[in-house]
Amino acid sequence: DLLLSATIVLSYLCGSIPFGLILTRMGGEGDIRQIGSGNIGATNVLRTGRKGLAALTLLLDGIKGAVPLLILRGLDFSPLQLGLACASVAVVVGHCFPLWLRFRGGKGVATGLGALIALCWPVGCICCLVWLAVARLSHISSAGALAAFAASVILIAPLSMQPLHSPLPLATFIIALIVVIRHAGNIQRLVAGTEKPIDIDAPPQD
Ligand code: G3P
Repeated sequence: DLLLSATIVLSYLCGSIPFGLILTRMGGEGDIRQIGSGNIGATNVLRTGRKGLAALTLLLDGIKGAVPLLILRGLDFSPLQLGLACASVAVVVGHCFPLWLRFRGGKGVATGLGALIALCWPVGCICCLVWLAVARLSHISSAGALAAFAASVILIAPLSMQPLHSPLPLATFIIALIVVIRHAGNIQRLVAGTEKPIDIDAPPQD
């Protein structure tokens, strides 16, 4: 159906705005893809020492994950659950595989968390807390991300009160799968014990 296809395309385009790349360029840090892990996400922006830019990247990447879903809710899109599910997957795909960057984008953490908050806010909020807690305790952002999206898969069906095979749990599962696939390198480094920690308590350089 035309409306659903338009929703998917627009959500993808919204997700594909590379805020980390844009903000670090505007902040005079050059191309974030040449720094640290080469990722365009907030964790890697933090590696430039620019805490403010990293926080803004996290916020804007999160907001872009929620916006298409909030618009669908506002428009009373029908069928709403299917629309939300497709938009949430499309926005994460947009962030991870953006047309503008030859489909080489981010890892879907902030955008996925934003989408989860708009899909089912209790799940989204708990996953944000899991991410923060694990990242703070381990000082490893990717460990927090993997724990958060594992939690999302476990929590979505009971907290949204939807059966496992319905749109919201299926979308949550696909998003978690994309996040895990995008973290393949991080997982290898975690297993080898060589994953780089982040220093959240370092003094900001902006
Ligand atoms: O948000 C992505 C994070 O989980 C890992 O980022 O730069 O350490 O690969 P990075």
